[in-house]
Amino acid sequence: MKAIVLGDKGMLGTDLVIELVSRGHEVVGLDLPDFDIAKPEDCARIVSGEFDEKLDVVFNCAAYTAVDKAEIERDAAFMVNGLGPGYLAQSCAMAGLRLVHIGTDFVFDGLKSEPYTEDDVTNPLGVYGESKLQGEKAVLALGGTVVRTAWLFGPNGASFPRTMIRAWLAEKPLSVVSDQIGSPTYTGELARVLVDVAEKNPPSGLYHAAGPEAMTWHEFATRAITLYRDEILKGDQEVEIAAIQTSDWPTPARRPTYSVLSFDKLAEQDIARMPPVQDSLKEFVNRLPANI
Ligand SMILES: NC(=O)c1ccc[n+]([C@@H]2O[C@H](COP(=O)([O-])OP(=O)(O)OC[C@H]3O[C@@H](n4cnc5c(N)ncnc54)[C@H](OP(=O)(O)O)[C@@H]3O)[C@@H](O)[C@H]2O)c1
Repeated sequence: MKAIVLGDKGMLGTDLVIELVSRGHEVVGLDLPDFDIAKPEDCARIVSGEFDEKLDVVFNCAAYTAVDKAEIERDAAFMVNGLGPGYLAQSCAMAGLRLVHIGTDFVFDGLKSEPYTEDDVTNPLGVYGESKLQGEKAVLALGGTVVRTAWLFGPNGASFPRTMIRAWLAEKPLSVVSDQIGSPTYTGELARVLVDVAEKNPPSGLYHAAGPEAMTWHEFATRAITLYRDEILKGDQEVEIAAIQTSDWPTPARRPTYSVLSFDKLAEQDIARMPPVQDSLKEFVNRLPANI
């Protein structure tokens, strides 16, 4: 298989390229500034033959991901997350290529108390979620595939557990919200699922893919730091994190209180669920650079 990975320098894109190459696929990785998904002329390059006619799939991991900044940079967020995926979907449809686009749990308002399925009604709480929703609608309307995920963490970027571990190592006092629940999702495992999707070719459409456990940010931080201590430092330092409420930590963008995603639809397509978060966290801490 020959694939294009857009946003290949990002947290997910980096692991997706690693997974594709490890399974013997050919990959063209593209990112800013060489390829801008918000520019129709760049997206048209996909149909121009520039990347060879044997392309099979385009993965779009490129996105405007600054959730809070999006509240004041609405146009920028909509250009990249709302319009860009539509340009890509048009090019892919013209070229007869499968487009696998990444969506987010932030399209939901978090008022449910059981895992969100692909049939659940969307109602984003902020600009980032609104812009991502526009993009996924454009992809679906043109016959593409959208894989929504949540709470991504990986070693190739400033992920939440990495930030927490770094702050703990610097002996900063830690306070983390304990009233938002989600499904931490390891980029290495999501990359495996995305390549499975491209290889097994389930019907185009909307799928959810997130880690198998629901937890609060507080629990996630505690587990990540404790594992880093046990695995990497092999020490017995105390891990003390104050549990706070969302109202104690105001942010420009509102976030869903509950955004656990069901994996059932992909599982019905014979795509394996992700392993326990503890296994993924173990791999994650071992992949972090010494100077984290
Ligand atoms: N992170 C999460 O917790 C999370 C949760 C749910 C869903 N998602 C979705 O998962 C996908 C991957 O997220 P991620 O965390 O890996 O994001 P990321 O680390 O921010 O990577 C995104 C990449 O896209 C690039 N990019 C930004 N604008 C672009 C444009 N106009 N054209 C081409 N490339 C552009 C970024 O470059 P710059 O760094 O130079 O801007 C970066 O290399 C996104 O669709 C995101 O919405 C993420």
